[in-house]
Amino acid sequence: MMMMTTTTKFLICFLFSFTFTTFVYGWNNGLSRRPPMGWLSWMRFACEIDCKHYPNDCIDEKLYKDMIDRIAEDGYLQAGYQYVNIDDCWNAHYRDPKTLRLIANQTRFPSGIKTLAKYAHSKKVLLGIYEDVGTLTCGGYPGTYYNNIDHTYIDAETFSEWSIDSLKLDGCYADTNKFNLTYPEYTLALTNVQHPIIYSCSWPAYLKNISDETYSEIRDNCNLWRNYNDIVDSYQSVFQIIKYYGQNNKQFIRYHGPGGWFDPDMLIIGNNGLSYEQSKTQMAFWCMWSVPLLMSNDLRSIRPEMKEILLNKELIAIDQDPLGIMASLVIQKSNWQTQVWTKKLSPMNNNELNPWAILYFNGHQLGPDSYMSYKLSSLIPELNQTISYDVHDLFNSNDSYLGKLKPNQQLELLVPTAGSVRLVKLIPKI
Ligand code: GLA
Repeated sequence: MMMMTTTTKFLICFLFSFTFTTFVYGWNNGLSRRPPMGWLSWMRFACEIDCKHYPNDCIDEKLYKDMIDRIAEDGYLQAGYQYVNIDDCWNAHYRDPKTLRLIANQTRFPSGIKTLAKYAHSKKVLLGIYEDVGTLTCGGYPGTYYNNIDHTYIDAETFSEWSIDSLKLDGCYADTNKFNLTYPEYTLALTNVQHPIIYSCSWPAYLKNISDETYSEIRDNCNLWRNYNDIVDSYQSVFQIIKYYGQNNKQFIRYHGPGGWFDPDMLIIGNNGLSYEQSKTQMAFWCMWSVPLLMSNDLRSIRPEMKEILLNKELIAIDQDPLGIMASLVIQKSNWQTQVWTKKLSPMNNNELNPWAILYFNGHQLGPDSYMSYKLSSLIPELNQTISYDVHDLFNSNDSYLGKLKPNQQLELLVPTAGSVRLVKLIPKI
């Protein structure tokens, strides 16, 4: 394989993706049937490589081992958070001159990545890594096309040999016009290696006005795909993402589902930018969308109330619902300050009717908490008109029951201000 010319590889790749798009919807590598959950270092730790000044916060093996320990021992793994993902700045500034393989920075990762993966696996945690489809990563480390040589197959081989479980492939320093060749080439390379690796593409994050055709290609080649701006530690950043997902809701819904997921970026809950209510808001939207839940925070010092939001079983179940449907935006008013979203969930045992989740959002930053009230059937026309639905508050597990409603009745909820939500589940009663 490694002896093939680039043109031959592109040709095979083209034929491969053509066959796939014709007969199969989505990249059917059998992985990520549910949105992946875990932890990713970027938002919180970025590219801090000064381990002298920041011994606990720099990108080194200790950081990832600490997070693997916290994931395994603090209830996250049990709740579904499985991956600990390395982001940029893990590698040396050069490739191995003989083998051309990527190598880890030897000062910060003295034991190497393979050993780190072993450590993760010994605790039933999975390890993810970061690369870039360009000449360099965004942080300036060797990329796939380092020195303009294609290392796709060599790198996929290396990651498999290290027993890496997930790859985020970024798109800096690359020709975006060739993404329809370079990203699928990696798909092919990953398909051919031994170790199963889920594939996160940053392909759409570098494009504007993405066509259906492009999303369809992306879905055919990737397990998840980052789009829009990078998240930072602020409510403003979360709100912009919510708005972008609202504006493009109708398009995104069509390409989203088991095996292939939009990725609106990391959960920033547990850092400094979000209030308690706004943290609930990020969790609620991400779960309503059935998108990856990748926390980027310091699990060694997270506040208990933030941890509780991240471990909310009811919300995680909404995110991980087997249907994997991205919620629909049904009401948008006051320049996105009032929103209502609905999501169909998979039927429960012995009951063929679908439960639903409904999210009310209040972004207003003036005035008191306000009641939002909508007739259920106006939000969800396909509700069964002849039965009632039990309404449960998903952020209040001790006392979640709010009452029973018929579809022609109003769902009225008091919603706090400044970027807050209420999230309920409707359970059909026969
Ligand atoms: C890009 C990505 C981020 C992060 C950085 C690393 O900006 O979108 O998520 O991986 O690169 O340099």
